Amino acid sequence: MRNYIRINQPCIGKEELRAVEEVLLSGVLTDKNGMGPRVMEFERAFANFIGVKHAIAVSSGTAALHAALLAVGVKAGDEVVMPSFTFSATAEAAVLCGAKPVFADIDPDSLSINADAVSRVLSNKTKAIIPVHLYGQPVDMDPILEIARERGIAVIEDAAQAHGASLGGKMVGSMGDMGCFSFYGTKNMTTGEGGMVTTNDDDYAEALRAIRAHGESRPYWSVRLGHNYRMTEISAAIGLAQLQKLPGMLERRRENAARLSEALGMVGKLSAPKAPENGSSSWYVYTVRFVGANAGRRNKLVEKLRSKNIDAQVYYETPVHLMPFYMERFGLGMGALPETEKASRQVFSLPVHPMVAPDDIEYMADTIRKLIK
Ligand SMILES: Cc1ncc(COP(=O)(O)O)c(C=O)c1O
Repeated sequence: MRNYIRINQPCIGKEELRAVEEVLLSGVLTDKNGMGPRVMEFERAFANFIGVKHAIAVSSGTAALHAALLAVGVKAGDEVVMPSFTFSATAEAAVLCGAKPVFADIDPDSLSINADAVSRVLSNKTKAIIPVHLYGQPVDMDPILEIARERGIAVIEDAAQAHGASLGGKMVGSMGDMGCFSFYGTKNMTTGEGGMVTTNDDDYAEALRAIRAHGESRPYWSVRLGHNYRMTEISAAIGLAQLQKLPGMLERRRENAARLSEALGMVGKLSAPKAPENGSSSWYVYTVRFVGANAGRRNKLVEKLRSKNIDAQVYYETPVHLMPFYMERFGLGMGALPETEKASRQVFSLPVHPMVAPDDIEYMADTIRKLIK
């Protein structure tokens, strides 16, 4: 029987093992301001990779988003525009600030929010817009940045799934006011749990450093309300080793995605994702739309793929606005976001991570072809 092809899998080797051992033996596992030597080195290396002035390491991608919104000054009564077709953490970050997540519907081709959809839901309470580079596909940022700049609204990129994706020669996470990354165990690079905020703005960087460590501007000197959102030295050491490998891992993902597109080419009922012409995806997962299918038919296909050791997954079966907490709190229901709801019934994702071998790709494409016919 063929090995189970997991939807994502961390690539951990002797470099990470050695780095963790070194930290454990060093006796410095954390720093009270979250600025231990490994954390600072990881921040410098990550800022350099993204092409920004500052990177601030935090304990998760959710912490990154929450800290970024707090740095903007988002508070009760404010609104934050975002897609509902995302992981709940995007909306959660706004709610944690006391603000209202306002969901813009997605474009059916890119599966992301675009400037038109954003314009339709802007109000004088909008303080921030969070475009999500879902599945690693870069959002068309310029038109969104333009309307945000006109109105003095902050743009925070949710780049949790998009390390190394780029558009027009710029890395995702370097285009908005801030970029938020996740290093959760399934992500393109991992620290187990962890996150990073990237920015070119000195004031945001200073605020973020305070927010992650109890609002302190120096040890035991709180100048604002903060959190314990520090990254450990252990995580940063893993992150440094992973960052070194990231370009190679991205290359493998891109090769796998190209191979899968070619192998699936003749399956007419699936519409495959396209990397933008002037940019590149980080191929967090390879997400296809089962054109014309309803959720039942799509789910049956996904179950069959799993029974054949292909870990197909649905991201996201329930858009955030239809989750119980968000429905109760914000009162939206089925029909509020037609394109989002349609996509949630038709998409499914396939693995293209670096551990997926060329014959796994052939096997996945063959299996799908037979099942769909
Ligand atoms: C789009 C998106 N936003 C935010 C997050 C939150 O990141 P984390 O799990 O590191 O808190 C994730 C990942 O889990 C995500 O996929």
